[in-house]
Amino acid sequence: MDAVAGSIELKTPKEIGWMREAGQIVARTLSLLEASMQPGMSTWDLDQIARQELEKSGAKAAFLRYRGYPAVLCVSVNDEVVHGIPRKDKIIREGDIVSLDFGAVVNGFYGDAAITVGVGAISEKASELMKITETALVKGIAAARHGGRIGDISNAVQTYAESFGKSVVREFIGHGIGRRLHEDPAVPNYGPSGQGPRLAAGMTLAIEPMINDGGSSVRILEDQWTAVTADGSLSAHFEHTIVLTESGPEVLTKRYAEK
Ligand code: MF3
Ligand code: CO
Repeated sequence: MDAVAGSIELKTPKEIGWMREAGQIVARTLSLLEASMQPGMSTWDLDQIARQELEKSGAKAAFLRYRGYPAVLCVSVNDEVVHGIPRKDKIIREGDIVSLDFGAVVNGFYGDAAITVGVGAISEKASELMKITETALVKGIAAARHGGRIGDISNAVQTYAESFGKSVVREFIGHGIGRRLHEDPAVPNYGPSGQGPRLAAGMTLAIEPMINDGGSSVRILEDQWTAVTADGSLSAHFEHTIVLTESGPEVLTKRYAEK
């Protein structure tokens, strides 16, 4: 392991291999959850599916007991932005958009990813928000280059999302990842390009735009975890764990059938 720019740890090929394994378990689990989602299910049911899949894989949960978090999965519905705690009495309905955020640990190394999926027929507005958020993530990943800066990622995400009149959540941001779920550097989804820590091959980052249909403000519910939009507007969330190489970014949490 090497260090550059303060405490940003570069990963060895072997460590990246473990992160790729963790990332593939995360990707598979998210695809399984998407395929399993049915109106009438609770968000707790989804957490159970994720737990089973983790057990089968032999990997460890990344989120369970992290700062006291009580589940392996975050499920955030409609105006919920992030960190929704699975509950037996939180029922998924047709027309909902559901953000699924999941992490796994292999050999002490982490993978972290999120998708937002629609349940049955959803509104045009909702599907547009999901597509913009997913593409904002793709733009952010594409801006991650050896020799560039963190701000290049931030600016690519923000510029894309705001060009559609959507707003970028400020209170939650992406992060370095590897030996821990959250490492340096911080990866905001907003800010100027050409600034911030320098990007280098061997860096592993979780890029995770949360984009609101309305204003950017959020508030935290009484459970101390669930973040919701302050104005009640819809929110979407997509996340990938990537590794920077000399020849560009590699997505470690890429899902089957994803470009
Ligand atoms: N992707 C989220 C994050 O990086 C997942 C964390 S959930 C928690 O913040 F429960 F672990 F906090
Ligand atoms: Co994350």
